[in-house]
Amino acid sequence: MSTTIDLLRQRRTQYALDKTLPISREATTELIQQAVEAAPSAFNSQSSRVVILFGGASDKVWTFAKDALRPLIPADEFADTQAKLDGFAAGAGTILFFEDQGVIAGLQEQFAAYADNFPVWSEQSSGMAQLAVWTALAEAGIGASLQHYNPLIDAVIAAEWGIPAEWTLRAQMPFGANAAPFGDKAVMPRDARFKVFA
Ligand SMILES: Cc1cc2nc3c(=O)[nH]c(=O)nc-3n(C[C@H](O)[C@H](O)[C@H](O)COP(=O)(O)O)c2cc1C
Repeated sequence: MSTTIDLLRQRRTQYALDKTLPISREATTELIQQAVEAAPSAFNSQSSRVVILFGGASDKVWTFAKDALRPLIPADEFADTQAKLDGFAAGAGTILFFEDQGVIAGLQEQFAAYADNFPVWSEQSSGMAQLAVWTALAEAGIGASLQHYNPLIDAVIAAEWGIPAEWTLRAQMPFGANAAPFGDKAVMPRDARFKVFA
């Protein structure tokens, strides 16, 4: 049986993806849903919203990103960007993480004393949902990375999939079969990061 630390270490950034998932789309969807439901959120607000895209629907995200970036990047540098985005489209799917601003506004009204904290906690809750999903995918043998082409692609994504106006896109997670080993990862010296007192 894997320990928590084993699983956390198993989750790595994977850019080399292909489309053959080790589990079905239905099982992948179930896994993502369970991971998000298991993740904590401030006041159990469950402010995270998630759109799961497979196949052609996922490819559209990366076409949208390409279309949004093309006018912003010098033509002779665009090939690198295109290769990166094509790499995400080479995967089996993309998970879009949103935060429901309606939930946050409701909490600010209900608990005025914490009003300034709710947007921060929403971001933190989104990160927790992202980590939970990323780790669950890793355990299932599915590779993924975390991307941030928001806000450039927000409007086109909202129009394509009828995303409610209160949902703000926070991250995109392309996923698929691991098509290459993971890269090396540097770990900082512990004494620069941790302090322990008794
Ligand atoms: C909040 C956050 C934002 C990130 N944004 C991006 C991103 O926009 N693009 C990307 O390729 N990786 C992104 N990453 C992934 C990190 O670069 C990666 O997790 C880090 O280098 C450690 O590598 P590992 O994921 O293999 O452990 C992000 C990670 C976090 C936690």
